Amino acid sequence: MSARLVVLVSGAGTNLQAMLDGCADPAYGAQIVAVGADREGIEALARAERAGIPTFTHRVKDFPDRADWDQALTQSCAAARPDLIVLAGFMKLVGDQFLGAFGGRVINTHPALLPAFPGMHAVRDALDHGVKLTGCTLFLVDAGLDSGPTIAQAAVPVLDEDDEATLHERVKVAERSLLVETVGRMVRDGWAVAGRKVRIGP
Ligand code: GRF
Repeated sequence: MSARLVVLVSGAGTNLQAMLDGCADPAYGAQIVAVGADREGIEALARAERAGIPTFTHRVKDFPDRADWDQALTQSCAAARPDLIVLAGFMKLVGDQFLGAFGGRVINTHPALLPAFPGMHAVRDALDHGVKLTGCTLFLVDAGLDSGPTIAQAAVPVLDEDDEATLHERVKVAERSLLVETVGRMVRDGWAVAGRKVRIGP
C-alpha cells in the first residue's frame, strides 16, 4: 500500500511538481493525497489542481491569531490522513497543535547546508558570507527554526559569478532530486531517529 503524503506549499511548487512526477510511478511507494497552502494564486496550487489533487488554503491573516490558523491547518491535514507531511517551500512555521498531531512525521526542505544559514534568506546569506559550497538539507521539523534532525543533504558549488537567483536555481535542482529520492526511501524502507541522528532503512 502506498504512503499518503500531504504537501504544504507557498510558491512556485517545483519541489511539489518533482514529488508529483515521482509519485506517478506506482513503485515509488507514495501518493499525494492533498496539497495545502498559506496563500492563494500561487503556481504550486495550480500544479496540484492540474494533477487532480485536492487543495486547501489557510491564510494567517484570515484568523484571529496564529493558534487558530495552526488549528485549521492541523485539521485540514488530519482530514487527509497523512502518513507523512512534506513542507516543500512552505514559508510559515507550524505551531504546537500541528506538531502535537504530526510530530516526527513532518519533513522540510531548506536551501542551505544546515545548521549554516537557517531562516528565510538562506541563499542570500550563503552568498553574502562568501562560502564556496552550499546546498540543501532535508530535516525533520521540530518547534525551532530549521533546527530539527537532519535526514539528508546535498552539496552545491557557489560560483564567482552567482547572484541569488542563479545560486538558488542550482540549489533547487539538487533539492528536487534529494527530496524525491529521500522521501521514496523513507516511505519504502522506514526510518528511525536516535537523538539528532536519522537513519533510513528497515
Ligand atoms: C525551495 O528552495 C525551498 O527550500 C525554499 O523555497 C524554495 C521553494 O521552491 N524555502 P518551489 O516552490 O518548490 O519551487
